[in-house]
Amino acid sequence: MTVQTATPSDLSTTPEVAAGAAQFLTPVVIDLEALVVNGKQAHWHVRGGSFAGVHEQLDQVVAHAQDYADTAAERIVALGLPLDSRIATVAAQNSLPEMPAGFHQWQESVAQIVNQIDAALVTVRTAVSGLDELDLSSQDVAIEIERGLVKDRWLLQAHIAH
Ligand SMILES: [Fe+2]
Repeated sequence: MTVQTATPSDLSTTPEVAAGAAQFLTPVVIDLEALVVNGKQAHWHVRGGSFAGVHEQLDQVVAHAQDYADTAAERIVALGLPLDSRIATVAAQNSLPEMPAGFHQWQESVAQIVNQIDAALVTVRTAVSGLDELDLSSQDVAIEIERGLVKDRWLLQAHIAH
């Protein structure tokens, strides 16, 4: 038996809600995918006395960023809209600072990724604000990501904090 549904998305969701979720969560996905790539760049090129701990923590940042991107992207798709997270789009539209090439001492690697997280947090907080009167479930996704990124930032930044 084939079960038919009226639309690919939840019937309680209006087109305006879906469009708003896509508008605010797509930049979040793009920045998080950029953080995945740049986090691995840092993971592979960190050097120095705190190599082991920073190397490991950078991989946690990457893993969490990929999970957060998945949650945000699947919220958009669940509401019935596509998003563009192709590599060329991520490269052109992400708001993260440029990563320097080559090897770096661990203090520099930590600072680089803290700065990357801070840029992503600006985008995430824009989504939290923008979704406040639009769609609380999508806002909840953004809030969860904000909380997670702040924790990851702390676990990383503690390596260089005084
Ligand atoms: Fe690795």
